[in-house]
Amino acid sequence: MTWFRNGWGRAVSAAVVLSATAAGLGAQTAPDAAPVRVDKATFGATGEGTVVDIYTLTNRQGVQARLITFGALLTELKVPDRTGKLGDIVLGFKTLDQYEGPHPYFGATIGRVGNRIANGKFKLAGRAYTLATNNGPNHLHGGVKGFDKRVWNAQTVSAADGAAIKFTYVSRNGEEGYPGTVTATVTYTLNNKNELRLDYTATTDKPTPINLTHHSYFNLAGDGGGDILGHELMLMADRYTPVDDTLIPTGEIAPVRGTVMDFTKAMTIGSRIDRVPGPPPVGYDHNYVLNHGGRVLAVSAMVREPSSGRVMDVLTTEPGIQFYSGNFLDGTIIGKAGVAYKKHFGFCLETQHFPDSVNHPGFPTTILEPGKTFKSTTVYRFSAK
Ligand code: GLA
Repeated sequence: MTWFRNGWGRAVSAAVVLSATAAGLGAQTAPDAAPVRVDKATFGATGEGTVVDIYTLTNRQGVQARLITFGALLTELKVPDRTGKLGDIVLGFKTLDQYEGPHPYFGATIGRVGNRIANGKFKLAGRAYTLATNNGPNHLHGGVKGFDKRVWNAQTVSAADGAAIKFTYVSRNGEEGYPGTVTATVTYTLNNKNELRLDYTATTDKPTPINLTHHSYFNLAGDGGGDILGHELMLMADRYTPVDDTLIPTGEIAPVRGTVMDFTKAMTIGSRIDRVPGPPPVGYDHNYVLNHGGRVLAVSAMVREPSSGRVMDVLTTEPGIQFYSGNFLDGTIIGKAGVAYKKHFGFCLETQHFPDSVNHPGFPTTILEPGKTFKSTTVYRFSAK
């Protein structure tokens, strides 16, 4: 048996491969470690009467991810601080009706197309399409009822070294104005290295844009633990896509060097946030162009919160990442810990293709053709120091 020490100094066995089985949703037990588990319970019923389930993935370190079938959405993520104490580090709610109501995409799976499409319009194969507009003049995060507001099917799947759950949603031809029936899946795997891995697939029967992302708001000090301005952030991106006043890319790909956009060296999020150009509320809400180009699963962002010591690395196969510093949070939403989410109380790192790609031929394409399978992977990896 091989032994190694994980990031928190607890000895764990590397030789025992665990997988949560569909049958018991339960688990297999290692002789000397807590079991990997998948537990299922009812979370609630939608206004239309559809039952929504909650799945809890637990790894051998006791790290936990909780996901609901509504929006294939992450409601809780408990990871250790440097003393080993678990804390929930994502913003969200306790009840389904709050997720059904208006909220800024807490924890959700975003589709069919993440971020904005200018004026909700694009042309594809000579045809003009008009999408639902839900953000000033623009289409945002899939429209009025995007993938984040749909009930997904869930299926437990086996994972070599952890617990996994696969969500599937079929988006009909014409939904929110998009062409083609799309089958989308997202599989969340929580492994014993404290990585939460998201694997996406999509297929279509007509050419259509696809840009799937994940919209958790993180606060590594803990949900409701104040603002995130003291978190240190590093982004593996020398360039970003500047935006107009409605947050649509101008088409330019600009260097970050010498500007307040530069996170190529670790900097606190708050160090220059007051000087980020753009209309109020001030802050970061920009797509960074990752240096690795999106072809491989590579570290793309690193975040550290000094008081807890929690570290989150983001790895992705996507070419871009939206760094959003929670600028629109304004204290009107009360979160699951009973704390009002004020400005900058959470941040998002949304791995993605660039916003409004359908209208920028120079950006990597988001068009999925019939017969092809869209695939994309993002990993949120946790440690503490
Ligand atoms: C994304 C956008 C932001 C904002 C949030 C939700 O991150 O880029 O502008 O709309 O979603 O509030």
